Amino acid sequence: NHLVIALDGPSGSGKSSVSKQVARALSASYLDTGAMYRAAAWWAQYTGIDLSSDEVDPEAVTRAVEQMPLVISTDPDHERVVVADSDITEEIRSPDISSLVSAVATNRDARALLVGRQRELIDQSERIVAEGRDITTVVAPDAHARILLTASEQVRLARRGAQLNEAGSAVTQTELSAQVAGRDAKDSTVVDFMTPAEGVALVDSSALTFEETVQAVLEAIEA
Ligand code: CDP
Repeated sequence: NHLVIALDGPSGSGKSSVSKQVARALSASYLDTGAMYRAAAWWAQYTGIDLSSDEVDPEAVTRAVEQMPLVISTDPDHERVVVADSDITEEIRSPDISSLVSAVATNRDARALLVGRQRELIDQSERIVAEGRDITTVVAPDAHARILLTASEQVRLARRGAQLNEAGSAVTQTELSAQVAGRDAKDSTVVDFMTPAEGVALVDSSALTFEETVQAVLEAIEA
């Protein structure tokens, strides 16, 4: 009796923390697919590909992703991302990686490889909450519940800023909005994660607290 919950949303929508809490409430595993894109960006750099270059070779990126020795935990209380014996759990959250990740996310062949690994991880779990940008549409369109978590741009920027401050990296409002809007714009050229696909429930968290958002998602799953 396999249970799959698919949750998509843009940066700052709260999808990671909400998904983790929903996974705990359902005694389910948790898959952060964004961490896999981030790990792929880290690994590409590590193997000598300069993702910041204007002339990055997409085939080299695809090959790197194919060979990436990734181990990712699916325990919502113990997030671990390990590549080639390096624990990069914290490092992949850096602004550097955030700014390079689109070189992987906009690469169709690299995406196909990551989607394949994501499906394997989902299949291996009895119960799992998987979150990202294309889970409801591409990775797990047959999930038992499919939810798109949104929030107004203003709220998303404020949440992202608070997250970065907590992590100790102070950014100005202008840098923040350039980073978030820039990444969302690049991402949305590949996947539309702002409008719910047919059969996908929309949860707008703009006016909700964290607990209320978790509750709204749990209700959408039951509906
Ligand atoms: O932290 P934030 O929500 O902004 O991003 P994330 O979930 O950690 O994902 C990082 C990046 O991976 C995104 O900006 C997308 O470029 C990419 N991504 C994707 O393309 N498809 C997914 N299913 C998940 C992430």
